[in-house]
Amino acid sequence: MAEWIHVAAAHECPPGTAIEKLAGDRIVAIANIDGSWHALDGLCAHQGGPLGQGSLCGTTLTCPWHGWEYDATTGQHCTAANVRQQSFPIEDRDGQLFVCLPTSIVSEEDSRVERS
Ligand code: FES
Repeated sequence: MAEWIHVAAAHECPPGTAIEKLAGDRIVAIANIDGSWHALDGLCAHQGGPLGQGSLCGTTLTCPWHGWEYDATTGQHCTAANVRQQSFPIEDRDGQLFVCLPTSIVSEEDSRVERS
């Protein structure tokens, strides 16, 4: 099961940029590559840096903390084959962006919030 969650207006992320948004309680990095949308887990696999605040060059999204680079279209780390950010389906619905998160992730996040 999965759940589509509204994350942003499309105009907030012009072509060639990335932004950081919340999808439920999860941070996602959204990249606009020439009008094509991509969504990744927003916490860098290195030390949890804010990937959505990184710079986008072509399809490469660079974490602002220590420079780890990912292919924004897949989440694959550019040099470490064993490192991959989780990616999520994303859709532009009449100028509003929705990200599809597996229900298990949403439930995990919900229960984490309830326990804190
Ligand atoms: S936290 Fe992203 S490169 Fe270190």
